[in-house]
Amino acid sequence: MIALKIGVLASGRGSNFQSIIDSIESGYLKAEIGVLITDNPEAFAIERAKKHRIEHLVMVPGRLGSKDDFFEQIAEELKRREIGLVALAGFMRIVRKPLIDAFPNKIMNIHPALLPSFPGLHGQRQACAYGVKLSGCTVHFVDEGMDTGPIIIQAAVAVREDDTEDSLSERILKFEHKIYPRAIKLFSEGRIEVVGRKVMVTKSPADEKGLVNPSLTG
Ligand code: GRF
Repeated sequence: MIALKIGVLASGRGSNFQSIIDSIESGYLKAEIGVLITDNPEAFAIERAKKHRIEHLVMVPGRLGSKDDFFEQIAEELKRREIGLVALAGFMRIVRKPLIDAFPNKIMNIHPALLPSFPGLHGQRQACAYGVKLSGCTVHFVDEGMDTGPIIIQAAVAVREDDTEDSLSERILKFEHKIYPRAIKLFSEGRIEVVGRKVMVTKSPADEKGLVNPSLTG
């Protein structure tokens, strides 16, 4: 069987990128990372790619081309490398139609809140400010909205009375690093089906009736 080839898009430090690398290297994930694409030449994710001998491309939107052109070019680079799953890992742009259409239900994102609460930037800060007692993280498929696509896995994390944005972010991040590889593993095993906006996860690849909820509570 040909292993799943993942294309990672990241803009910053890349700890989620690292968790995918580690899951592959430990044998947990039967997949390979075909390319890292970043829109930030300073991203620490680039160092991680170099260290693990993963090809990386720096792609910055051109001054003349449109946003759609930019995503069209990204889609071409991914297709050229026969990527089967695109994993957004701290990619700080809203993905546009040309990329979404090129990879239908094959683009995942990780968000540091329990969606649909607190989409957009600073999910952890929003959760602290609102005063919720539970927050967490979400892996979802990407559609054209802001963090609105079908939810694959969530992890719930209790908010402490003395939490700051930083302390909550740190605890949530540990769960991000668990659920992202887990969602990719389910995808690589062919156990995910999207029905409308619901994601169905089967117990085993062949078992269409045995559904499970792979989410976690911290
Ligand atoms: C994570 O908190 C992720 O949920 C959000 O952006 C952050 C990226 O962190 N989308 P890293 O670059 O993976 O360390």
